[in-house]
Amino acid sequence: MALEHLSVGEIAVMLPGATSVFRRHKIDFCCKGESLLAREAESRGLDLSALEAELHALDTPGVHAPAETADLIAHIIERYHKVHRREFPAVIELARRVESVHQDRVDCPRGLADLLTDMFEDLEDHQHKEEAVLFPAMINGLGPVLRDPIARMMQDHDDLGELLAFMADLTDDFVAPEGACATWRALYAGCSKLDMDLREHVHLENNILFRRFL
Ligand SMILES: [Fe+2]
Ligand SMILES: [Fe+2]
Repeated sequence: MALEHLSVGEIAVMLPGATSVFRRHKIDFCCKGESLLAREAESRGLDLSALEAELHALDTPGVHAPAETADLIAHIIERYHKVHRREFPAVIELARRVESVHQDRVDCPRGLADLLTDMFEDLEDHQHKEEAVLFPAMINGLGPVLRDPIARMMQDHDDLGELLAFMADLTDDFVAPEGACATWRALYAGCSKLDMDLREHVHLENNILFRRFL
């Protein structure tokens, strides 16, 4: 099947594992999911047919998305909201340690702990609104009145996308420098995991769940 005229969000829904290919090529499939594959390839100077071949060759497990809305919401809360709540504090702690021990190095990720803290506070506020208001309204079938709340949640997702780009810059795309200690490497592995989970989480909401109510 020709993928070039499909949006990256559609491909991420359809093809298991496409999210990892997009992430590797820095193609934003979650917040900019409506952009066409051909346009993304062109703007990044990627060979479109090679990219399509890479996507067709996928046999990795994709993002799990239950069909029923209530099941999908339960999955988002268990697999993403609760996991972010567990993982952010541990990664913030690692960032504080690395920034204090290695402050003299030029490649020290200065400001990363504060960035992660801001991101986590914004996310917690956002997740609370989804869990307390938006998700129950969806389960109760209040479709037409949800347009504005969904638009606000999608704006939050866009803002998060900008912070993720900033995190990738600060960490050199999660590649720890030569000679980095175990804590530093663990920090970047943790940041990379947060990035992947947050992108999958936003993808499930923007490209699958929210579309059912728009
Ligand atoms: Fe969420
Ligand atoms: Fe969300």
